[in-house]
Amino acid sequence: MNDDTQPGIQQNPDFSVDEREAVYRAIFTRRDVRGEFLPDPVPDEVLARVLTAAHHAPSVGFMQPWDFMVIRSPALKRRVRALYCQANEEAAQMFEGEKQATYRRLRLEGIVEAPVNLCITCDRQRHGPVVVGRTHIKTMDIFSAVCAVQNLWLAARAEGLGVGWVSIFHQPALREALGIPRHIMPIAYLCVGYVSHFHDRPELEKAGWLPRLPLEELLHFDGWEGSPDEAGEALREAVRETSGRRGQ
Ligand SMILES: Cc1cc2nc3c(=O)[nH]c(=O)nc-3n(C[C@H](O)[C@H](O)[C@H](O)COP(=O)(O)O)c2cc1C
Repeated sequence: MNDDTQPGIQQNPDFSVDEREAVYRAIFTRRDVRGEFLPDPVPDEVLARVLTAAHHAPSVGFMQPWDFMVIRSPALKRRVRALYCQANEEAAQMFEGEKQATYRRLRLEGIVEAPVNLCITCDRQRHGPVVVGRTHIKTMDIFSAVCAVQNLWLAARAEGLGVGWVSIFHQPALREALGIPRHIMPIAYLCVGYVSHFHDRPELEKAGWLPRLPLEELLHFDGWEGSPDEAGEALREAVRETSGRRGQ
């Protein structure tokens, strides 16, 4: 039976090779952007597309706990940046000696330079106290909002837009600056805009802060302490080969 004509199901479920490669290209070339933002405006239709991609993220019980605040006011951006500077100074003090010097050299935000900032939030009370799938693990709404962030980040990369996630804030201070009600949690503060270039690897990796961990060492089989059987070893080898082909 030809499923193509059935109503209520996807009519064209398969990705072509090019489409599949495009998805992986967005994943592997997505970067956290800090210092490369251009002042060029982001057209509304592009912003609308990436916001729509975010809104189509999975969410626990189809809760869709997110809201999206668009911040373009230079004064508000400067206020948020001041909050970042204060928190970042505290963060720097947590490291000693050479590590602190390295930390201080890291560029960790592009709040003022990015033409658009977005704050993605999580309404912890949306649809009332009982949400399908969130009955025992209450943080599932937060995880859902993070899925929206990732959708947006990947869609933005495909649009040629850089995104930088800034998390170095005191949450109550950020909430107050943005006028966010108490039951709403700010999840991600994002700097968004076109960029001069995308780095080929994470900047923290390039700066020698941390390396990418070998994926094959992060695999577990049939329990945390389980050891791989023949099939597990074969998967591990396939993972090693795939990572090797990507050069990491
Ligand atoms: C939850 C979260 C919070 C982050 N907070 C910051 C931040 O405050 N400043 C920053 O420069 N990067 C931040 N990042 C970006 C990470 O540093 C970055 O994703 C990581 O180094 C890997 O680099 P890549 O995103 O370019 O692959 C954050 C990323 C996530 C997922």
